[in-house]
Amino acid sequence: MEALIIRGGNPLYGDVPVYGAKNSILPLLAASLLVKGESTFENCPKLSDVDTSVDILRLLGARVEINERTITVCADEVESKEIPCDWMSKMRGSILFFGAMLSRFDEGKSCRPGGCPLGERPVDLHLFVMEQMGFSVIGCEEDFCCKRAEKKDKKRKFRLRIPSVGATENAILLAVLTPGETKIENAAREPEIGDLIAFLNKAGAKISGAGSKTLKIEGVSSLKGVRHRVISDRIAAGTYLLAAGTAGGSVTVKGIDESLLRAAMPPLREAGFLVETFPAEIKLTRKSRPLPFSKLSTSPYPGFPTDLLPQFMAVAAYAHGTTLFVDNVFENRFSHVPDLEQGGAEIDVAGNVALVYGKEKLFGMHAKAKDLRAGAALLLAALGAEGETVLTGVEHIDRGYERIEEIFCTLGGDVKRQKEE
Ligand code: EPZ
Repeated sequence: MEALIIRGGNPLYGDVPVYGAKNSILPLLAASLLVKGESTFENCPKLSDVDTSVDILRLLGARVEINERTITVCADEVESKEIPCDWMSKMRGSILFFGAMLSRFDEGKSCRPGGCPLGERPVDLHLFVMEQMGFSVIGCEEDFCCKRAEKKDKKRKFRLRIPSVGATENAILLAVLTPGETKIENAAREPEIGDLIAFLNKAGAKISGAGSKTLKIEGVSSLKGVRHRVISDRIAAGTYLLAAGTAGGSVTVKGIDESLLRAAMPPLREAGFLVETFPAEIKLTRKSRPLPFSKLSTSPYPGFPTDLLPQFMAVAAYAHGTTLFVDNVFENRFSHVPDLEQGGAEIDVAGNVALVYGKEKLFGMHAKAKDLRAGAALLLAALGAEGETVLTGVEHIDRGYERIEEIFCTLGGDVKRQKEE
């Protein structure tokens, strides 16, 4: 196990390159199972979830080559119709590989996916989509196998109870090769879904409505391998910018357009930060102690992203006033709060609501990351704290951030990675 040792107090200055989005490369790699020939993905992030995805593809029999930030997949030889549970349990995104397998083979066996413990995280919407696409689902939410007797060529339409990102992605993966027209209502609209649609349409799919609540998919008989550049990671970019919010200084993220972080811009300016945007760059400068965000309430895209809530809370912990946070997407988005309180933060939590009373100073803590974004939030808080923080559970952070200690050291932070005794 590893820990990050952070000595807070250094303001951060400099540029951070932003690479492909974790939540885009995962569905794209799953989609490569549906394509004949080679799919090539550029601008890929170097993350443990990507390593897991590559392992799953190779386990299924695909050929995968990695050259720096380019991943090339040829899935022509894939025959396996089962994803072992210990692979499914490693991350939430594994369920997308199951959906792609069903789409290709009309059958598949697996079990519940893993992922951050943000609450119940059921898969009922995924099973609903599979049934809507003609599969009979045997089993429960723990272990299930699915089989489709025939692919009926017909018009089908269904509505998602929640605009679930993963269920929308699985619906797309299942519909692209199913004869007939599939209409998905109340679909999620995240940019990463638009990226998946762009790749599939380039490969020969017929999907319309990207970015809207209604997707229409005309099934095609096959898809061919193409080259695709993964869109930048808006959550990683937002995280790096917010580090200047807790530690002070001025951070510029490069390779990301402001349009991907539109919902985050107003609260950043409300806090008194100087936010400057340039083509494919965003710069945040903290000139004085942040003002409170007043209220931040998450909702599906294009609303305020749940994946940035913990990091905004780290900034709010230092603000000159009180901020109300409401997470309307997940039930347990506050796993970092007890550790922040240990560092001197004052936070009241009731269900999916948290009230943060900002403090001028926080102090080093012995903290443990319990999920990816909570870990990032604790790191941000530690960068601005007085004294030393020991942050364990770094494996959660490595799922979504590349060598995060190197990034913050480049900016002037004092962050070391050490093996835990
Ligand atoms: C994706 O998770 C992301 N993960 C999450 O990012 C992100 O927080 C989330 O979308 C919301 O934007 C990946 O893309 C790999 P959902 P996903 O299905 O698809 C409920 C990160 O930090 N729900 O949109 O699992 C669910 O419980 C991760 O990068 C059901 O009820 O999210 C939640 O309350 C964390 N039944 C809501 O929908 C289902 O079958 C939204 O979940 C599925 C979901």
